[in-house]
Amino acid sequence: MSDLEQRLREEKNARLKLIVTDGVFSMDGDIAPLDKICELGDKYNALVFVDEAHATGFFGKTGRGTEEYHNIIGKVDIINSTLGKAMGGASGGYTTGPKELIDLLRQRGRPYLFSNSLPPPVVAAGIKAFDIVLNSNNLAERLRHNTKRFRDAMTKAGFTIGGSDHPICPVMLYEERLASVFADEMLGELQPHLY
Ligand SMILES: Cc1ncc(COP(=O)(O)O)c(C=O)c1O
Repeated sequence: MSDLEQRLREEKNARLKLIVTDGVFSMDGDIAPLDKICELGDKYNALVFVDEAHATGFFGKTGRGTEEYHNIIGKVDIINSTLGKAMGGASGGYTTGPKELIDLLRQRGRPYLFSNSLPPPVVAAGIKAFDIVLNSNNLAERLRHNTKRFRDAMTKAGFTIGGSDHPICPVMLYEERLASVFADEMLGELQPHLY
């Protein structure tokens, strides 16, 4: 955060400043300190852009993502996310933000402009997935419950689980060779059940 502030200070006079971050980072489930990032955005007049691929639909109390987790809903200027993870595993994604930006993307976003549109069944599945998440909190609650159960039991069994509050639960072995042997032995455990 101090590095970010330093850079914002250096670019104080830039016409446009944009802070770009993941909401949650994929490898270790690290959660961006979005509340502090937005404070810096306000302080230095910078926009905040968040990729919510690892948060949309399940993270935060009702699955609304990292903004909700930090209790700052509405503070982030631009949110990008995918329909290809928690929202159903199909494909596609979206960007939300001020109308001017969306209009600009419709004109200048090359993959948007020059690629075929998402197939209607994918769009229908995406809409349905949003309906399910918005109408009930059961799935997010169950995931939270399962995450806690997994984290607690693994910790009790002597493993170190990285990250803190997120369903990405990295089992830290701290050594590449050991991780590789561990993965092979786990696959070995799985094989008999596959056939
Ligand atoms: C942070 C992040 N954003 C976006 C994506 C990609 O989403 P899509 O498959 O919809 O392009 C990924 C995929 O792994 C990701 O990790």
